Amino acid sequence: MLRESEPRDRPEIIELFASPEVGAYIGGSRPRYQLEREVPEVPMRRPGVFVVDLDGAMIGFVQLDRRDTERPGHVRPEAGEAELGYMFLPAAWGCGYATEACAAALDWFASTRPTEPVVLCTQSANRASMRLAAKLGFTEVERFHEYGAEQWFGAWSSVTLSG
Ligand SMILES: CC(C)(COP(=O)(O)OP(=O)(O)OC[C@H]1O[C@@H](n2cnc3c(N)ncnc32)[C@H](O)[C@@H]1OP(=O)(O)O)[C@@H](O)C(=O)NCCC(=O)NCCS
Repeated sequence: MLRESEPRDRPEIIELFASPEVGAYIGGSRPRYQLEREVPEVPMRRPGVFVVDLDGAMIGFVQLDRRDTERPGHVRPEAGEAELGYMFLPAAWGCGYATEACAAALDWFASTRPTEPVVLCTQSANRASMRLAAKLGFTEVERFHEYGAEQWFGAWSSVTLSG
């Protein structure tokens, strides 16, 4: 189930950001003591963030945010595209939950903004994320170097453009 975040998600959110495995390709993890101090009582409650709930517990989240206009990688001249992001707890990896949750978020987005593309940026070394992007139907736009690594930048659209 996709839902907004609640106070009971706080421990899992801290776990996500403290996990070295989760942070391996996204800039690393953060010290748990810092997170305990800084994460708000209702963390990540903002438009575009979907908590992924499995049997009453958070296993990860999917988000649709506006891509920073200053960063490389854009498909629209005005930039600020909707960008898909995702983070799941390692115990839930490999079960298809990320695929299911991202597909549902994309479906929702397509129904609300049918003509808008969605973009995605991931380290090309992040094999799970690369596979997920391909399964969701993202296609490569370009690759570039950022944060000391090769980044894969792709786009998805619910509208099939034909000749
Ligand atoms: C990326 C992430 C969400 C994928 O989660 P997941 O639970 O493995 O996703 P799914 O189970 O839906 O699997 C998606 C596909 O990736 C494949 N996959 C998973 N881990 C893989 C790995 N290490 N190497 C290669 N493929 C992998 C799965 O087999 C599946 O493909 P398949 O159906 O052809 O078998 C998860 O690894 C994660 O949270 N990583 C840390 C955060 C992160 O890096 N986010 C990316 C930000 S850009």
